[in-house]
Amino acid sequence: MNKTAVESDPATAPPSAEGVDKSNARVREMFRQIAPRYDTMNHVLSMNIDRYWRYRAVRRLRYEAGQPVLDTCTGTGDLAISMAKHAPKDVQVVGSDFCHAMLEIARDKRGQTEKQGSDIDFIEADSQSLPFKTDQFQCVTVAFGLRNVSDTVLGLSEMLRVCRPGGQVMVLEFSRPTMIGLRQVYGFYFQHVLPRLGQVFARNDKAAYEYLPESVGQFPDGQALADRMVAVGMERVSFTPLTFGVATIYEGSKPLEGPEKEDA
Ligand SMILES: C[S@@+](CC[C@H](N)C(=O)[O-])C[C@H]1O[C@@H](n2cnc3c(N)ncnc32)[C@H](O)[C@@H]1O
Repeated sequence: MNKTAVESDPATAPPSAEGVDKSNARVREMFRQIAPRYDTMNHVLSMNIDRYWRYRAVRRLRYEAGQPVLDTCTGTGDLAISMAKHAPKDVQVVGSDFCHAMLEIARDKRGQTEKQGSDIDFIEADSQSLPFKTDQFQCVTVAFGLRNVSDTVLGLSEMLRVCRPGGQVMVLEFSRPTMIGLRQVYGFYFQHVLPRLGQVFARNDKAAYEYLPESVGQFPDGQALADRMVAVGMERVSFTPLTFGVATIYEGSKPLEGPEKEDA
């Protein structure tokens, strides 16, 4: 594990330097509260585009027969379930998240879909200290989750650690459109409309929906996030904006080692 991973202590991670409280306790409690309405809210507030973004992400995964894949911050499991539908039958899918309430919903959904694809295992775990062996998974993904992890670099380092050499790390995350006009409209929707809609629909603590624009606003996107992926040791890092840059798929590979690299 790299130096950053050893030095950080996720259990006591402070609020982020940018002022958004992303301590484990706060984030876990927020998702516990919104868990029962999370899926509906997602689909309503994104006008169902979130389904298309996950579909685009899953289609880019390069499975390998018999090699397991991992979806971190899996939440209610939509990406993991979609992976299980598309992966070869002998590919085991694992979803991990540190919020029990979100995982319970994922497990219920798996129960309804498990006959259609490969197996899915949902495991309670902090993305900053994954309980998996090094070099285990062919693909390691995170959708709309990395932004919530207290220590972004540690989250990325852990994804890379558990990925197999030559395997794929993928991040799907909100980003800010660059097109003039759209950027302003999007900013207004995110800052003013979405928190109010969230509050009305979910009848939830207002803070949970104020957190969304705050967390997106302070999170690196585009080249800045790609640079962090390179910094933790990923190679062939690239990113693909979706829907005018409202979301982006980031991809990187774990370098091959020694003789494997020479043969490649
Ligand atoms: C916005 S939801 C995304 C869920 C799902 N991936 C999706 O595409 O809808 C973020 C999830 O990240 C989880 N999460 C945040 N920080 C985490 C951490 N440090 N370790 C594990 N899960 C975390 C939350 O519990 C929540 O379920």
